[in-house]
Order: sequence, then structure tokens, then C-alpha cells
Amino acid sequence: MPISRRTLLTSAAGAVTVIPLAGAATPYRGPLQTDPFTLGVASGDPSPDGFVLWTRLAPSPLAEDGLGGMPYRTVPIVWELAADERFRKVVRRGVTAARPDRAHSVHVELDGLAPGREFFYRFRAERWISPVGRTRTAPARWAREAALAMAFVSCSQFEHGYFTAYRRLAEDAPDLILHLGDYQYEYAPDTYNIPGGNPRDHEGPETVTLANYRQRHAQYKTDPDLQAAHAVAPWAVVWDDHETENNWADEVPEQPDPGFLARRAAAFQAYYENMPLRRTSVPKGIDMQLYRRLHWGRLATFHMLDTRQYRDDQGCGDGYKDCPAAADPARTITGAQQEAWLLDGFRRSTARWDILGQQVFFGQRDNNSGPQKVLSMDSWDGYQGSRARITRGWVDAGVRNAVVLTGDVHAHWADELKLDWNDPTSRTVGTELVCSSITSGGDGADVASGNHSWAAWNPHLRFYNNQRGYVRTRITAESLTADFVVLPYVTRPGAAAHTRATFVVEDRVPGLHRVADTPTPSPELRSAGEPGDLGAETVRQETERP
Ligand SMILES: [Fe+2]
Repeated sequence: MPISRRTLLTSAAGAVTVIPLAGAATPYRGPLQTDPFTLGVASGDPSPDGFVLWTRLAPSPLAEDGLGGMPYRTVPIVWELAADERFRKVVRRGVTAARPDRAHSVHVELDGLAPGREFFYRFRAERWISPVGRTRTAPARWAREAALAMAFVSCSQFEHGYFTAYRRLAEDAPDLILHLGDYQYEYAPDTYNIPGGNPRDHEGPETVTLANYRQRHAQYKTDPDLQAAHAVAPWAVVWDDHETENNWADEVPEQPDPGFLARRAAAFQAYYENMPLRRTSVPKGIDMQLYRRLHWGRLATFHMLDTRQYRDDQGCGDGYKDCPAAADPARTITGAQQEAWLLDGFRRSTARWDILGQQVFFGQRDNNSGPQKVLSMDSWDGYQGSRARITRGWVDAGVRNAVVLTGDVHAHWADELKLDWNDPTSRTVGTELVCSSITSGGDGADVASGNHSWAAWNPHLRFYNNQRGYVRTRITAESLTADFVVLPYVTRPGAAAHTRATFVVEDRVPGLHRVADTPTPSPELRSAGEPGDLGAETVRQETERP
């Protein structure tokens, strides 16, 4: 059944929820002349009875003021949820307000739906109808769901390549997608460059103001491959640093900047506006609640962490260091409140798999072959007290299977997590899977050995690849299977994806079993001898200013 304002108004007494147009002092009257649905649609944070539906109106998405070419007025948006892709079985319908103070973004938070079901949704603004998105509710809280297809991604620098990995991810049509941070980057064009030059450019200056961040988010969302990935499944997102600024830590910017708190608030506001987040994440002043938990029946619990907003400043001026502060138990990467919340979540968990969706490398990565340990101060290696308390926390709580998911480093890694990193005989108590970037760092290259040179003295590091891609998982009661998907190139569009390696984590057996290893077949690729560590570290060096 086609939807119209008239239908909605006449059936308002029935199943339709008509939401008052908050702040609608100047009701919108003028018609929208061009299609405002240029940024696609998205859904997120599935619960057993609902999720968030998202869109944002922007007929001119790259407008410098960040308002996407919209008039400064509230616009009513009709949304529609159906059980089928052709909208023959509409199950919910309503009207919400796209407000200028939210950059005409809408977040429709639904509840009361049936668990474990697929749904389709779309929006309408006047005569314009959005693309259709597919989403799903999580299984019932106590359901023994047979399997979950979950994929995770990170680090999508628009300038460094085409978002083909998002397209391939959409073609997989998983049940759930996690984005672990660096969804967008703050840089002005030509300041963070890959070898051979960037194939695309950011619009606008380095993002500092709310208008800058809104414009940048809009530019990213115009990408058809990213739109396809959003439209195919619900996402659960957490940020890392670049959605705000490189390597910020709580209220401390990378370089001294008296305007940083205003900048942080602007970045948070734009992030909220542009992501399918629940109303619990509406920013309050300079703060925004992002850490949260998602349950997938009794199969999996996702603890989505925020390791930026509450952390102590990086030790010894950041970078790779042998730094006493890294071992100081008083320092934290999560903040005390989030840590207590996480430990409590471990104690209450009844899930087969407890999965930490988070930003920075969790396991130890010593880059020095000698006796001295030289570690990244921006990762959990720089906050060893936090890491020890959380690792001990899941062990003491009897968590059945602990798996940490990570982004940030622009390379695929897989590693085994030790209870005590100072004891070489310490047992493995968890597993870490690290996804490469969607584009950040450019094409990269295959690593023929399938591991990093550091693995010689970090034997818990089991896999490394330096191409772009994502990690696709299949989670059942018996095992978690992880495919490390890679693309041979991203600086040109259209690359095919292939699975570079597959690892299995078995129920009650922390650690990795390699079940497949398939070096990249393309003859145009040579293996990288000493690839070094591309990623956040590279960013830091390249963005240092005199
Ligand atoms: Fe990144």
C-alpha cells in the first residue's frame, strides 16, 4: 500500500503513531525540489523487539554549512516497516520530525516487534521515497539461536581508496555488522596521503566545527558502497579517534588546543546525527554515552566499548615506548565506571560467546626483539592495569568464551590472549581478532608468510596480513569461525574479495585453529618483506606538524 500523508492522518487513530513535530514553530511548507535521500538509510542496535531506523535529508550533501541544502525548518518524515521487501505486509508506520538542529537526521527507535525476524524499511519526505533497507531484530533473550553471521570492519579513510570492501560485505548479507571505529577521518585534503597519491579527496577543511563534521559525514554517506553495507543489515557502531581527532584521549587533544572541548562536542553531535544510535546516545554537553551491550539470544553478548572518551592520556608522549606509566595500575583506558560495568557484565553473562567490540589492539605487541619491551602507548599495551583487570575479570567470572574484536591498525591480525603478559608460560584465556581497514593505508600487499616479523618474539601473534578488507564470522554454539577477507586493491574500484585465511575458535578452547590459508592469487602482487606496522602509528608520523 502506498504511503501518503493523507493515509497517515486518516489512520492516526489506528495503528499509526503520529509523533508531534518537536520544535516545529515554523512548520515546513515549501516542497523539496530534489531528492533529499542522498545519504541512504541505516539501522542499528538490534534488540529482541526492536532497532533504530536512520536517515538524513540532504538534497545537496556537500553543502559547506553542513545542512545538506535543507531549509532551516522541520520536515515531517513518514517511515514504514514491512515484513517483505515489496511492502505488501506493512507492520508499522509513523511520522517523525527531521529537525534542522539535528541536521535533518531521524532516529526512529522501535520496540514491541517479534524477535529473530527480518524486516524492511523506507522513508518518505513529501514526494520523495528513500531506498529500502533490510534489518532484523535480535533473537529472544533466552533463545538458543543456531547461528549468527556477523562481520566487523574499521578504518574507512575516504581519500585512500574506494569502499569496495563495504560492497563485498553487503553482498555477504550478514545478520549484524560491527564498525569498530575510524568510520571517517578529520583531515583536510592532501594531508594524509598514501604512496602514489590519494585516489579521492575530502571535501572541506580539517573538521573542527559542527558544520565541518556534518559535511564530512555527509560526504562519506554519499558513497554507494557504504550505503549498500548500511542498507543490508543492522550495524552496531563505536568510534575510535578519527571521528574526532587523531589520538585524542578524554579531554586531551593531540596537540594543545584551547578549543578542543568544543571540537569534541561538535564531533560527538555529528556522530550521533549520522549513526543509527539509540536515544541513550544523544550527546549531553561534551559527553556521549556510547558503550553498551547487545544480546544475540543466549548465543552471543556484545560488549561494545568506548576506549577514547574516558582514558588517561597516552604515556610518555605516545608512540612505541618502553614506558613505566604503561604498567601503572592507576591508569585506565576505559574509565572506572565503564570498567565496573564491563566486569559486572561478565559476571551476569549467560552467553556462549562474550565478545568485546572495541577499538585498539588488546594483546601484547612488543616491537623490540631484545629483552626490553617496546609497546604502543595508544593501545591496551599502554594501559596494562586496565587490561589485567578486565582479563582477570572474565576469567574469574567464568566467562565461557572471551573474544576481543579490534580495529585501528589497518591490517588483519589474529592472536591469543594471555592471563599474564609478564609470564612466558602463562595460559591462553581468550582470543583476539583484528580486522584490517576498509581503505586506510591504500592497497597494501599480501604477506606470503601469513605472519608479522614480530611473531618471532611474540609467539601469541598467529596471523598478519597487510591488505584491505574485513572479517566475516559465523558463530554457533560449537565454534566461532573467522574469515579474513582481503581485496587485492582499493585505489581502483571493483576489486574481487577473497578469503586470505580462516581460523576457528572452538567452544571452551581459547585460542586459534587455522583451517585455511590462501595467499592472494593475483600475479600483480608481491609479498611484502618487512611490512612494518602500518596503521595508527603511520598516521601519527604523517600528521605531525612543525
Ligand atoms: Fe584508522
